[in-house]
Amino acid sequence: MLPVMIELQNVTKIYGHGDNRVVALDDVSLTVNKGEVFGIIGLSGAGKSTLVRCINKLEVPQSGAIHIANQDITKLKGKELRQARRKIGMIFQHFNLLSSRTVYGNIAFPLEIAGAKRTEIEKQVLALIDLVGLSDKITAYPAQLSGGQKQRVGIARALANNPEVLLCDEATSALDPETTKSILGLLQDVNRRFGLTIVLITHQMNVIKEICDTVAVIEDGRIVEKGPVVDVFAHPQTHTARRFMKSVLHTEVPAEIKERKVIVHKQGWIGKTVRISFIGNVAGEPVISSMIRKFDVDVNIIYANLDFIKNTPFGSLIVELMGHNNNVEQAMRFLVAQGLKMEVLNGVEPTV
Ligand SMILES: Nc1ncnc2c1ncn2[C@@H]1O[C@H](COP(=O)(O)OP(=O)(O)OP(=O)(O)O)[C@@H](O)[C@H]1O
Ligand SMILES: [Mg+2]
Repeated sequence: MLPVMIELQNVTKIYGHGDNRVVALDDVSLTVNKGEVFGIIGLSGAGKSTLVRCINKLEVPQSGAIHIANQDITKLKGKELRQARRKIGMIFQHFNLLSSRTVYGNIAFPLEIAGAKRTEIEKQVLALIDLVGLSDKITAYPAQLSGGQKQRVGIARALANNPEVLLCDEATSALDPETTKSILGLLQDVNRRFGLTIVLITHQMNVIKEICDTVAVIEDGRIVEKGPVVDVFAHPQTHTARRFMKSVLHTEVPAEIKERKVIVHKQGWIGKTVRISFIGNVAGEPVISSMIRKFDVDVNIIYANLDFIKNTPFGSLIVELMGHNNNVEQAMRFLVAQGLKMEVLNGVEPTV
């Protein structure tokens, strides 16, 4: 068992009163292990920001306990709270940098507040600037930086006090896909290098897919599903989880493929267009060639797509299967028996 870093037990957070009452978190319990990248995905207003803000006590829940490294943060005050907060870094969607300070000055800021010595500050800031790849921007101001560079400063600043936990609130939502990838790569690097525990909230499934080990799906303040990312991808249990998965699994079949007629050239043959989806190691096995040999069917590949969640392959293949009725039926049963998901999109009856 991995050591637990963050534990929320029955956390409820309510904003406002009467007609304005909003239950932002409704009896939320979850456990984040040390060194894990834990993703929380949900639609706008689901309660994601409230959840991370409770973890560093920027918000105080009405009930429940929040333990960070075995300390209940909801019970801490004053100096103890300030010390506990130093263990938690945070980065934001809009970076929240100080516009009047340079890159160096922004990263030095939390160290100055913590009362570090000037020589220590200099050593730490220069190491962090090097880590995030901004050595040529030390004296630049935020206005002179791109979004990706600003977030690199945000990450360096969040790491200044050597935290054990990094909270990321939509840290890549304001960035283009390429820059998102490079920032996620940097987060993964610091996760591995320092064993840092990362809690990352997002509404984008590709962010979860890219770097998270575990995912929790939040809806209307409740955690409706959670588990290892690969499992939730392979077997989403809730409508919300399925919708998020669809956004990265390319599950929509283009109309021209749906309407495409299979043309069979042999008398008595039938043709079917099927979609085969897979997750896991089956992608490395010669399932299709076995099928062709065993059942004497022709296969025409129309569309193929392969992707990875961490190291697990997943994808889909749209093929036309052509052959004698029995052979096509048996071939389809064979695919299902191999653990593949299969769906018939179109078909033609035998020609006589
Ligand atoms: N300070 C506040 N006062 C009153 N209601 C609030 C406050 N902060 C959040 N809420 C409400 O709590 C609910 C959860 O908000 P939260 O900001 O946690 O959602 P979110 O999942 O982060 O959304 P987004 O993806 O849009 O950032 C929403 O209904 C929101 O209107
Ligand atoms: Mg939010």
